[in-house]
Amino acid sequence: MPKIAVTRWIPDEAVEVLRSLGEVEVSRADRPLTPGELGEFVAGASAVVSMLHDRIDSTVVDAAGPALKVVANVAVGYDNMDVPALAERGVVVTNTPGVLTDSTADLTFALLLALTRRVGEGERLVRARRPWSFHLGFLLGSALQGKTLGIVGLGEIGRAVAGRAAAFGMRIVYSGRSRKPDFAGEFVPFEELLGRADFVSLHCPLTPETRHLIDAGALRAMKTGAYLVNTTRGPVVDETALADALEAGEIAGAALDVFEAEPDVEPRLLDREDVVLTPHLGSATVETRTAMAVLAARNVASVLTGAEPLTEVKP
Ligand code: GLV
Ligand code: GLV
Repeated sequence: MPKIAVTRWIPDEAVEVLRSLGEVEVSRADRPLTPGELGEFVAGASAVVSMLHDRIDSTVVDAAGPALKVVANVAVGYDNMDVPALAERGVVVTNTPGVLTDSTADLTFALLLALTRRVGEGERLVRARRPWSFHLGFLLGSALQGKTLGIVGLGEIGRAVAGRAAAFGMRIVYSGRSRKPDFAGEFVPFEELLGRADFVSLHCPLTPETRHLIDAGALRAMKTGAYLVNTTRGPVVDETALADALEAGEIAGAALDVFEAEPDVEPRLLDREDVVLTPHLGSATVETRTAMAVLAARNVASVLTGAEPLTEVKP
């Protein structure tokens, strides 16, 4: 029986798929495994089902040993994996595109609305039992209708965000590697997007090119009244520069679902009322997380039975 190592809890539906293929071992630690623990845990495995917090590189492949055929990441992002190193060793890498598009786009709007309608701030005020009464100038936010949303990276999630933005009556500009002829929004250079958008929403993957894409210069290029939303990967934003920009009043606010060094957060952001912070919840619905894990399990099944993987990441 091949060993299948699952580095953290996954839904039962996915475990069932894996049990039909081999001996399934799921980590019982309620935290990410340390690199040392990960190496021990995957020893002898033919397949590894990994999480976005696991660093998967040649060390892990060597620790697993010659039986390893596939690493199925339960995430659409695969910046945690050294894909070329795995390919070199003949290990197939898969991710989970498609199934989390809508939930991540929904969370993007939850953050955008929380930010512009001061939901977190209002909630904190009520829970603190502070006195308040309705008045026309109380906790005023900013409308979405008629405003310009700047989408950085028009992949599947960026497009799903654009669909929701259209329903809210927003104008859309987008930047990325190339213009998408089948998309109605206006393609603009990144610098122009920063200067035009009332809201900048990040949907590009984390790569060497997008690390700190939002740095001090980018933040200065944004409008003074603009808001930043990040639901992709923390390191796309320089958190120190973001705290500086907020302190200097260079932008109006920011919502972050992801952080540079998760679960740590730049301390200066924690006490600010103009910042919304959520703990990497983009895909966190029962439906989506089940679909992600089942897709990962089916990728394992394909590779272990000699079929083509469903959603392979090629180097
Ligand atoms: C989540 O962040 C993912 O990449 O799926
Ligand atoms: C980044 O913005 C990309 O999608 O190329």
